[in-house]
Amino acid sequence: MRFQDQVMVISGGGSGIGQQIAWELADEGATVVVADIQREGLQATESRSGVHSLFCDVREDESVHDLVKDTMAQFGRIDGLVHSAYWTNPKPLLETEPHEFQKTQDVILKGAYLLARHILPIMLQQGRGVIVPIASVHSVLGFRDFFSYQVAKAGLLGYVRSIAVDYGPSVRAVALAPGAIDTPALQDTAEEVRATLAEGALVKRIGTAHDVARAAAFLLSDDSSFMTGTLMLLDGGWSVL
Ligand SMILES: NC(=O)c1ccc[n+]([C@@H]2O[C@H](COP(=O)([O-])OP(=O)(O)OC[C@H]3O[C@@H](n4cnc5c(N)ncnc54)[C@H](O)[C@@H]3O)[C@@H](O)[C@H]2O)c1
Repeated sequence: MRFQDQVMVISGGGSGIGQQIAWELADEGATVVVADIQREGLQATESRSGVHSLFCDVREDESVHDLVKDTMAQFGRIDGLVHSAYWTNPKPLLETEPHEFQKTQDVILKGAYLLARHILPIMLQQGRGVIVPIASVHSVLGFRDFFSYQVAKAGLLGYVRSIAVDYGPSVRAVALAPGAIDTPALQDTAEEVRATLAEGALVKRIGTAHDVARAAAFLLSDDSSFMTGTLMLLDGGWSVL
């Protein structure tokens, strides 16, 4: 029960990785607030004891302000932030429309900024807090046809470095960078693509949302108190070769 009496906020908690992180943290004693634009997903995540949901569009300052205000009104503190929300339309640069580029940056990077803008002052006042954006192997490696996503996911590395430098030691920030993970997005992928992804990993399997949730719990806990301003790759050894 590493998170007894702690309050965690998770964006994108209505699906996939964010949902599993919410459940993992609640199982370890946290009070968890999941934020998403998908109401059905929010209800599903909230079915687990200790998890509460609030509608929030992370692209909008007012919406994030309300999320944080409501969380503080109900629970009085925020110890951890996980930014898992994302959107993208994978294409190379010359096929990317300006609105597609903008939306990807807005959900991933502007969302990360707005969440920290409202939550950091609370963490600083408490004298402790941990911020974990979900990055990706795309933060450090190049894949074809993922221009907007790779720009945004690489930006999250600058985000954790800046927070760690400017607001440490009381606030730590670490990007968690998964490889291929079995979430709804990947479940729609053709079986041969999934087999290739599994084969490419040194551990010969695709990751699970539970793998990511356990790593997120480690980063949010004092077990990782010597880590900040960096990233943690979680890709089954996929990037080694
Ligand atoms: N699944 C993978 O293989 C994989 C690999 C590496 C990194 N990631 C990262 O993990 C995170 C979660 O991925 P996932 O596979 O669980 O995705 P998912 O699509 O299952 O969940 C993403 C959630 O973000 C929410 N969202 C989108 N726009 C939003 C907004 N404006 N405001 C609030 N919420 C919004 C969606 O409604 C959805 O519930 C993402 O940041 C993704 O880039 C995933």
